[in-house]
Amino acid sequence: MQIRFADARPEGDYALVLPVAGKDRSALNALGAAQPSVVAALERQRFDGEAASAAELFIDDHGTSRRLLVVGTGNGSDQHDIAEKLGGTAVGRLLTSGEAKAVVDVTGLGLDADSAARVGLAAALRAWRYDRYRTKLKDKQKPTLNEVIVVGGGEAAGQHYMDRWAPVYEGVSLTRELVTEPANIIYPESFVERVQASLKGSGVDIEVLNRAAMEKLGMGALLGVAQGSVREARLLILKWNGGGEGGQPVAFVGKGVTFDTGGISIKPAAGMEAMKWDMGGAGAVVGAMKALALRKAKANIVGICGLVENMPGGNAQRPGDVVTTMSGQTVEVINTDAEGRLVLADAITYVQRNFKPSTIIDLATLTGAILISLGHEWAGLFSNTDELAEKLQQAGADSGDKLWRMPLAEPFDRLIDSPIADMKNVGPREGGSITAAQFIQRFVENGVKWAHIDMAGKAWSDKPSATYDKGATGYGVRLLDEYVAEVLEA
Ligand code: BES
Ligand code: MN
Ligand code: ZN
Repeated sequence: MQIRFADARPEGDYALVLPVAGKDRSALNALGAAQPSVVAALERQRFDGEAASAAELFIDDHGTSRRLLVVGTGNGSDQHDIAEKLGGTAVGRLLTSGEAKAVVDVTGLGLDADSAARVGLAAALRAWRYDRYRTKLKDKQKPTLNEVIVVGGGEAAGQHYMDRWAPVYEGVSLTRELVTEPANIIYPESFVERVQASLKGSGVDIEVLNRAAMEKLGMGALLGVAQGSVREARLLILKWNGGGEGGQPVAFVGKGVTFDTGGISIKPAAGMEAMKWDMGGAGAVVGAMKALALRKAKANIVGICGLVENMPGGNAQRPGDVVTTMSGQTVEVINTDAEGRLVLADAITYVQRNFKPSTIIDLATLTGAILISLGHEWAGLFSNTDELAEKLQQAGADSGDKLWRMPLAEPFDRLIDSPIADMKNVGPREGGSITAAQFIQRFVENGVKWAHIDMAGKAWSDKPSATYDKGATGYGVRLLDEYVAEVLEA
């Protein structure tokens, strides 16, 4: 999708998108002679101008018939929200409509440059789809819209879009692609290759550890998960040094289970295909690194992805096995389906030993229990530092990747003590997301600020929203990008 910005409406063929705030019809005055009949048509459709609502009709625009899409912006005052719902709703409606070009006229909304640019961002994000394996799409199912022009957003909007939001779009796209690809295509090795190709020339430094290298480092927890699969594990290390010399970096760590069968503690068949996106945390980390590099963020960030496939098999780890982590701590593997925390434990130790980060933020599709707690609207946030938690929640609110804080406390920690090893990898069913976070916390070294994001309810959506269609959401990329912008670059 081409996104452009202009001062005035172009000549020629296009669908016109006009925002209307609630019951206020004044935005339609620009239609001149057509205005009264348009207002009447909106009444007939019971169009009330609510945010993200839309009505469609054809008008006579100086002698040519033109599709008019009226999009409601509601009665709220949050310009970012208005802008993104407008751009996304317009594209959601027009993507396969037959129209090739849309003009979103925001004159009269009084948007600042950033908000006007976000109309373009949401339009681009909502247009994203992955048709690679759909070889028999009917013409009617294929996208027709290939250009969105935002008119009346002011001079700075276009430049701001290029500087800030086009990179974010690229990052989200990479994440969505990795999350969407099936597990016969994306496994640890091919995940790395896809990322290497995508980040070529971006200035991100890439390092990869294979199984032999991880064995030498004693990463027994991560490798224990991987040992049932014929796909070899990888640790992917991405470095972006935009903040100059010195200073401790901030680390992003992602769970990258390219498929989670559960292992010997195998999952039920129904719905297991969803576990192709159990690498959504790692996907978010690489997408964020791409966005930050493309927009040349002034910060030093290291991104780590623990990439494994969790399979049953003759060499798979068994319930009751004891593994030794890179930290030296031992773990009794009670349930081989609680594998994400085992992967994160070694990835977190690795990043602390090698990069001495001040702050670690890990992202993982870690527990089904977080879906029971928070459903699909919020991801769960756990942190050992209030200030970090508050800043992440702020970035979550500002980016739309929302976070709800959950507790950590010693009584939960006791629930993962093991009679044979230093800890076991599962607690009781109750509070399952919390004991999972407590497990990870045992690998965070003294003085390191740490936050854990359980995004099991967020990586994939069964219904479309303003900025995504059904499927991979790209959750986490905008959150991390916003955190860097608000906290590290401020
Ligand atoms: N990847 C799953 C968590 C998950 C579940 C993500 C549903 C997305 C949707 C994770 O590895 C897992 O299997 N967790 C177990 C932990 C349990 C065995 C303690 C779970 O949540 O059931
Ligand atoms: Mn699992
Ligand atoms: Zn998993």
